[in-house]
Amino acid sequence: MASPIEELRRRRARILQMGGPERVRRQHEAGKLTARERLDLLLDPGSFHELDMFVTHRAREFGMDKVEAPADGVVTGYGTIDGRLVFVFSQDFTVLGGSLGEAHAAKICKIMDLALKNGAPVIGLNDSGGARIQEGVASLGGYAEIFLRNTLASGVIPQISAIMGPCAGGAVYSPAITDFIIMVRGTSYMFVTGPQVVKAVTREEVTFEELGGAEVHAEKSGVAHFIAEDDVHCLQLIRQLLSYLPQNYMEDPPVIEPTDDPMRMDPILNEIVPEDPARPYDMKEIVRRVVDNGEFLEVHERFAPNLIVGFARLHGRPVGIVAQQPQVLAGVLDINASVKGARFVRFCDCFNIPLITFVDVPGFMPGTQQEHAGIIRHGAKLLFAYCEATVPKITVITRKAYGGAYDVMSSKHIRGDINLAWPTAEIAVMGPEGAIDIIFRKELQEAEDPEGLKAKLVKEYRDQFANPYVAASRGYLDDIIEPQETRPRLISALEMLQQKRDTNPRKKHGNIPL
Ligand code: HXC
Repeated sequence: MASPIEELRRRRARILQMGGPERVRRQHEAGKLTARERLDLLLDPGSFHELDMFVTHRAREFGMDKVEAPADGVVTGYGTIDGRLVFVFSQDFTVLGGSLGEAHAAKICKIMDLALKNGAPVIGLNDSGGARIQEGVASLGGYAEIFLRNTLASGVIPQISAIMGPCAGGAVYSPAITDFIIMVRGTSYMFVTGPQVVKAVTREEVTFEELGGAEVHAEKSGVAHFIAEDDVHCLQLIRQLLSYLPQNYMEDPPVIEPTDDPMRMDPILNEIVPEDPARPYDMKEIVRRVVDNGEFLEVHERFAPNLIVGFARLHGRPVGIVAQQPQVLAGVLDINASVKGARFVRFCDCFNIPLITFVDVPGFMPGTQQEHAGIIRHGAKLLFAYCEATVPKITVITRKAYGGAYDVMSSKHIRGDINLAWPTAEIAVMGPEGAIDIIFRKELQEAEDPEGLKAKLVKEYRDQFANPYVAASRGYLDDIIEPQETRPRLISALEMLQQKRDTNPRKKHGNIPL
């Protein structure tokens, strides 16, 4: 007879084997780590405490009474990342394809409830064949329990989803509700209906990768915020991302010991904006030159690249950066950029991360495609997000701030706390060319030398309006600064705003134009 302790050890060892050596080998062959190997890499060494290791399904149908499912296909528990508490679940594809049944779902719900009560992030490592077919409606109910918790936890604790294998059908909606999705290139995919169903319904032939691979979701749909090259990179990215985030909405994000001079001036910034207003420049270079040690964790790098969003630090304090990219579509605000920006602004506002906005925007994207697809509705999201945000908001206009886009991009009028401009800023209702065509249409039609007259009028308009001094004279800008001073000025503004408190009227919740 084995002693009780030996029996415990035997049972544990069996569960730790997961789906057995053959299925673990197949998992590795597919270029994937196992659920437990992933947790070892994600969490600080020795910090993981597993819960519900002995939980298993109670299904009897379809031969399930004979199926052993170690940990019921999901490893759950808590641990630390850089010494800070996190709750985790890691689906085990080697056990029934990581499929989700009643017990599997209950395990995930248990750690989500703990995370919410204890104010710590939840990280989900998804690798699953979806609803466990043998368990029928109990699986669907399990998913719904998770969706509900994802929703209730939204804005309370950060939720991060890594997609490290299949994620199909309704299962996609749990990651979709969380704050960030990271997909692993080549081994992960997400779709509501798979290639076979697509073929049956639409006759379209498409591969898993083409339909819902990492590239597609990072570039086209915007579903994925980050692409990881492999499992190891994915887990590193999660650690890096969390370093910018507080544990919950009641905390400030973690400040690290700064190693970059807060007074550092950068003369190259004085030369960066080209004299010709039609010529592009790289806004990411400006961001990197201003923030601590040039470190910028870009979110949604490949989706709507005309708008840049991501995390950085200023004198050790995390900030959210939102900036136009003049190199892509001249930095215009289109539907995707508006939605991307709105979601990022709202995330930062949820979690007390100050917003730094760099503006060079010619306006909203014109055209039937954009109008018919609802640029009014979608552009309003970014406006709404900036208006309702109560975190410190600091704005730097580097060049163009035209039309409604001027208002939207964290302007003074919508509670920008400190609004700065470089002397190259142009702030007006529209660009000089368009403005002259409208206000002098008759004169231009009747002129003997319309080209010459237009050039003269454009110059006059530019001298009069395409500068920051009119806005500064009204106090819409707090100051006009030399580009090289940007870093010290942002840091001093951020420190001044440390204790900022602002509120919105009491309400159940706003009605952002979705
Ligand atoms: C039960 C499942 C399963 C599932 C996979 N398995 N998916 N068991 N329920 N949903 C099992 C397989 O039987 C197999 O068991 C093992 O997991 C590995 O699966 P393979 O097919 O051998 O792996 P692979 O070839 O890599 O293919 C992976 C896969 C495929 C593409 C995910 O398994 C698949 O198509 N599964 C079904 C996906 C699906 O339609 N799910 C329902 C989606 S709808 P053995 O014993 O052979 O190792 C959904 C609704 C959610 O999820 C609703 C929420 C509202």
